[in-house]
Amino acid sequence: MNHKTRLLWIFLQYAAALFSARGENAVLKDEFSTESKRLLGIIKYNMRKSLDLDQEGCYLQMDKECLEECGFNATAKTIFIIHGWTMSGMFESWMHKLVSAVMQREREANVVVVDWLTMAQQLYPDAVNHTHTVGLSIATMLNWLQDEQQLPLENVHLIGYSLGAHVAGYAGTYVRGTIGRITGLDPAGPMFEGVTDEKRLSPDDADFVDVLHTYTREALGVSIGIQQPIGDIDIYPNSGEVQPGCAFSEVLAVASNFMEVMKCEHERAVHLFDLSLMNKDHMSFAFQCTGPDRFKKGICLSCRKNRCNNIGYNSRKMRKRHTSKMYLKTRADTPFRGYHYQMKMHVFGRKQSDSADPTFHVKLYGAHNDTGNIFVNVYDGTVGMNLTNTFLVFTEEDVGDLLKIRLSWEGESESWNSVWKSLKQRFWAWNTIPAKSVLEIRRIRVKAGETQKKFTFCAQDPSKTEISPGEAITFVKCLDGWEVKPRKRYRL
Ligand SMILES: *[C@@H]1O[C@H](CO)[C@@H](O)[C@H](O)[C@H]1NC(C)=O
Ligand SMILES: *[C@@H]1O[C@H](CO)[C@@H](O)[C@H](O)[C@H]1NC(C)=O
Ligand SMILES: *[C@@H]1O[C@H](CO)[C@@H](O)[C@H](O)[C@H]1NC(C)=O
Ligand SMILES: *[C@@H]1O[C@H](CO)[C@@H](O)[C@H](O)[C@H]1NC(C)=O
Repeated sequence: MNHKTRLLWIFLQYAAALFSARGENAVLKDEFSTESKRLLGIIKYNMRKSLDLDQEGCYLQMDKECLEECGFNATAKTIFIIHGWTMSGMFESWMHKLVSAVMQREREANVVVVDWLTMAQQLYPDAVNHTHTVGLSIATMLNWLQDEQQLPLENVHLIGYSLGAHVAGYAGTYVRGTIGRITGLDPAGPMFEGVTDEKRLSPDDADFVDVLHTYTREALGVSIGIQQPIGDIDIYPNSGEVQPGCAFSEVLAVASNFMEVMKCEHERAVHLFDLSLMNKDHMSFAFQCTGPDRFKKGICLSCRKNRCNNIGYNSRKMRKRHTSKMYLKTRADTPFRGYHYQMKMHVFGRKQSDSADPTFHVKLYGAHNDTGNIFVNVYDGTVGMNLTNTFLVFTEEDVGDLLKIRLSWEGESESWNSVWKSLKQRFWAWNTIPAKSVLEIRRIRVKAGETQKKFTFCAQDPSKTEISPGEAITFVKCLDGWEVKPRKRYRL
């Protein structure tokens, strides 16, 4: 199939999904129908035996001898990896990377790839329909392992990508007892968004359900990844909408690239998870927040009372809280990890500040390295004049403990809009030079998300706290009590 046909096909798939989502009202059955029985033979449990992924592995069956041959170790962890809807009918490259990352991290674990490729290579609504059967099959396999091998269900971890996440949900629903953990990697959205708990992955499907959402941007009324939170924790890297390095603007918005962009955004969940398996010591954190807007404003960088967590494999189970949503920003490629800072500063409007409309740039000087000039994104578009403003600053490099901050601003007069305005002004009053706005900033309070350290920075020259556009002032740690000690050490 060429790209255009594929593009067309995928749109048809989603359109079909939408229609059937409205009409369908399938009743859950917890036993196999004749049709499911026919399909059961198609589902294969491929236990990986060596890191050499070209080796076939061993097919698990509900048969004691087979388990022994495969070297199934019932006291070790058991990790099932479940793929999603497929067009090619083959394992894609992410599967190989994920399997290898899991095996390297958990060397003794039973790593089993659930192969339901023939049922997944269908029209999307049919593949969705099959998630129920596949989930039931996994539950049956796990029940048998419990009976025959006294497999402790709390050692079982199901990892499902896209539709595979909902397969895991069904497995959790139908198994006898409670599975230890289910990880949903960008669980599929079409036909699952807004449906009741029992028809999709949900927090009661396992003791701990953690979800990464990477492609929840809506197009034509659907999003490929589910938008709503469906786990005990739901992590939305980069708001879960657009992943850096994938966006249309970066990949050119031609139709043939649509699939590439989609794959890049949807699969980012798997790649973030891979990295979390490989980097036990350099973990990315996500911060609890009621929504992406508050996070972008820098309000949510707290780790108090378990408000932050590691992302991916290293996530810890947390007590139920009023929101399961967590956020972080990432870099465009590996290592995706970056560093978050909350900056709070009171902006005094001094001269002509009413029309200042400033944008800030900061440069951070750390014990290890310095950043470039970072544009400070003002989330709601305007800096509150004569108010304390909070910003989120993200750096790709680890600069170490902060030593200095250089701050500059540009006013309206630098934007095109205002060039036009000032031209008009000059036209009417050509002999008056427009007065420059002046802002005053005395202190910047900074909190580093990754270390939870707080510092207060004061203007290096206390007599020079007023800044005109284009100027910069440097802030250093205030002489008295510049470090605000965290109340308690956070072990992450
Ligand atoms: C089975 O797994 C357990 C726990 O990881 C380990 O202690 C034991 O050595 C393993 N047994 C075999 C035969 O590999
Ligand atoms: C789902 O599959 C069952 C058989 O397993 C079938 O009876 C039913 O019509 C299917 N539903 C849809 C919406 O395709
Ligand atoms: C900020 O306060 C100064 C003096 O306190 C005042 O002159 C200025 O108009 C205020 N600016 C705004 C935008 O409120
Ligand atoms: C400092 O950061 C720059 C990028 O900003 C990077 O190229 C350089 O390798 C870093 N140096 C150290 C010592 O980490």
